[in-house]
Amino acid sequence: MMAKTNGDLASLSAEGPADSGDSHILPLGKAHATAAAALHRQGIHTGFLSSLGAGFLREIYRGISACRAGFGYVWLGSDGAVLGFIACAESTGRVYKQALLRRGAFMALPLARFLLRPSVLKRMIETLRYPSQAAEDLPAAEILSIAVAPQARGKGVGKALMQAAFEEFRRRRITHVRVAVGADNAPANAFYLRCGFRLTLQRTHHGLPMNIYVADVENQQRPR
Ligand SMILES: CC(C)(COP(=O)(O)OP(=O)(O)OC[C@H]1O[C@@H](n2cnc3c(N)ncnc32)[C@H](O)[C@@H]1OP(=O)(O)O)[C@@H](O)C(=O)NCCC(=O)NCCS
Repeated sequence: MMAKTNGDLASLSAEGPADSGDSHILPLGKAHATAAAALHRQGIHTGFLSSLGAGFLREIYRGISACRAGFGYVWLGSDGAVLGFIACAESTGRVYKQALLRRGAFMALPLARFLLRPSVLKRMIETLRYPSQAAEDLPAAEILSIAVAPQARGKGVGKALMQAAFEEFRRRRITHVRVAVGADNAPANAFYLRCGFRLTLQRTHHGLPMNIYVADVENQQRPR
């Protein structure tokens, strides 16, 4: 991936994310799926989905960008490089169904090499069942993933992407959003707290401790 220039990042840091909002943030489209998959693998490398490979992740992001229940945004550097993305679901279960309907055949190809590995199949089934197993009082809407390129972190890019997502959730009349993150991912836990999420539940997923946060979308800071 191409790097954004230091000058651009310095000015973002000084002026804040609101200034970057309109000019740098675009809806996540099919054309961004490869870059989103690369950022996902780079930033969330210990996650199960990352272990399924770049081709599978690319199809997931193509699926999310193509389905009505899902949406996302990318943050572009001035050279057009994707330096961050966020992927969101109105309802994670519906996004899985719609993405599978649209891109299922393409997802199957990169997954073929895992079909004879029972441990991977078990984790896939757990992942697909996860939305229906979420506690009843948790919101259906979810931040599915967010990642910013290492050289662009700490400059407000993640927060700008989150604010764009909150704006779209409000437009869709969604009041509360959840996000699940590994309990040991200290930067991401700190980030969600700074973005207005509150720790609501702790549970185990794929044998790992997870923190589940919920944000009240209405009460979040709006992009200027
Ligand atoms: C989490 C992540 C997206 C944050 O993106 P970012 O662009 O660096 O975050 P921002 O610069 O917009 O920071 C927003 C706020 O979070 C805080 N924050 C961000 N990273 C932090 C860290 N490592 N430690 C403490 N606080 C942090 C910032 O201080 C800022 O607070 P402020 O609003 O009070 O100034 C980024 O670190 C990342 O891509 N991590 C790898 C992928 C990942 O773990 N994703 C989450 C799991 S799905």
